[in-house]
Amino acid sequence: MDRTYNYHFTPPKGWMNDPNGLIYIDGVYHLFYQHYPHDIVWGPMHWGHAVSKDLLHWEHKPVAIYPTKEEYIFSGSCVYDKENVSGLGTKECPPLVAFYTAHNPVTGEEQQSIAYSTDYETFTKYVGNPVIENKKDTAADLTQEKPAFKKDFRDPKVFPNPILGGFSMVLAVGHQLEFYHSMNLLSWEKTGEFAPKEGFKEICECPDCFPVETDEGTKWILTLSLTSHIMPYYVGEFNGNTFAEEKGEFEESVSTPLLDYASDNYAMVTFANCPEILMLGWGESWDYVSQTPAKNYRGKMTMTRKAQLVKIEDGWRLRFTPATLSGVAPKDVWQGILQPGEQKEFVVGTNKKLVLSVTEEEILVDRSKAGDLSFSDYLQTKAAKFSAKRLKTGDCNITVIQDNGYVEIFADDGFVVFSVMTY
Ligand code: FRU
Repeated sequence: MDRTYNYHFTPPKGWMNDPNGLIYIDGVYHLFYQHYPHDIVWGPMHWGHAVSKDLLHWEHKPVAIYPTKEEYIFSGSCVYDKENVSGLGTKECPPLVAFYTAHNPVTGEEQQSIAYSTDYETFTKYVGNPVIENKKDTAADLTQEKPAFKKDFRDPKVFPNPILGGFSMVLAVGHQLEFYHSMNLLSWEKTGEFAPKEGFKEICECPDCFPVETDEGTKWILTLSLTSHIMPYYVGEFNGNTFAEEKGEFEESVSTPLLDYASDNYAMVTFANCPEILMLGWGESWDYVSQTPAKNYRGKMTMTRKAQLVKIEDGWRLRFTPATLSGVAPKDVWQGILQPGEQKEFVVGTNKKLVLSVTEEEILVDRSKAGDLSFSDYLQTKAAKFSAKRLKTGDCNITVIQDNGYVEIFADDGFVVFSVMTY
C-alpha cells in the first residue's frame, strides 16, 4: 500500500523528483515537477503540474511538458512575463515562460530551452530552442577525450534583475554557478560566475537567487543543492551581473548554513512572483529513494516554508516557519521548548520512536528506532542520525509537524530545520 499524506504533495501516479517552475499568479500557486508518469522509478523526464490556492490542497493538472527521444525535460523555473517582453503572448494574455534543461539521454549534452503558455496549463516549445546553447569547443578539441560540451550544465532559475532591468538566470555548471542576463527572455549573455572561496567540491544542482528585505536594506540569498545531498545557502549582494558572498569577520570560522540538516529534502527552491519567500523541496533522498516501499507512485514534496532573514550572532541566517501551520490538525503539531540536556520522543508508529535531543551546542535527531531502515545500507549507516550546531543559546524553541511518518522539525526558532522520513 502506498502512503498517503495530509499536508504533503504527491503525484497522481509514477515517479516524482524536484519541484520545478514554482510560481504564484493571481492567487494561484503553480507547482511543476520532475515526473515520469509510466513507472515508479526515474525515467524520461516530463514536467508534471498541479495548482493550489492554499499550498495544502492541490489539484492535479495534465502533464505540462513532454520529453522526446532527444530531450528529457530536466529541472528549471517559470517566469510570469507580465509585459510580454518575450513576445510569446500578448499584453492582455501575458505568457508564462518555462525554462528547462533539455537533456540528451544519449550524449548527456544539456542546453537551456523554453516552453510557454497563455492558459498556464498547455505549453508550446519555443521554435528557437535552445536559448542557451552548450557551446562546443573548437574542432581540434573534438578529437580530444574530453566531451565537446560542458558537462552538468543545468537547472536554470530565472529571476527579475532590478539593477540592469530584464532578467537574470543562475545556472548550475559542474562545480560552479554561472549567471546570464537577458532583456527579452530569449537571447542571453553570460555575466558572471560564483563559487565560494573554498570552491564547491561536488556537482551543483538546482540553484536559486532572490532578494530579501531586512532592516539593513536588501540582501540577496543564493541557494543550491550539492550531490552529496546538502543544500547550502549564502547571503550577500547581487550587483546585476553576479553574486558575491558577504561574510562578516566573525563568520570566517562559522560553517556555511544549510536549508536542511537531515536527508529527506533536496532541490529546495522559492516560488517566483510571490510577495513572500516561500520554499518547497523534494522530500526524498537520491541515496535511497529507489529502495523505499512504493506501489503506484514514488516521491513527495516537503511542506512549504516561509523564510525571513535575521541577523544573529553567527551572521545573517534564514529563519523558517511552516507556511501552512494553521491548516495542520492540532494532533499533528507539537510546539514546545527543550532545555539543554532534554530530549523528546515522537511516536511515529507502533513501537517506533523518533528522538529529538538538545545540548548547549547541538540539536540531534535519531531515527534508528523510528521504523524500518533495513532496506538500505545507506540509511542504516549514514542517515540514521543527524546533528546540527545550535544557532541559539539556552532554551530551544521547537515546532514539529508529523504527517504519516514524515516529520519536519523546526528547531531553535526555525533557524535549524530537519526533514526526516520514517518507514
Ligand atoms: C536534481 C536533478 C537535477 C536534474 C533533475 C533530473 O535532483 O539531478 O539536477 O535537472 O534532477 O531529474
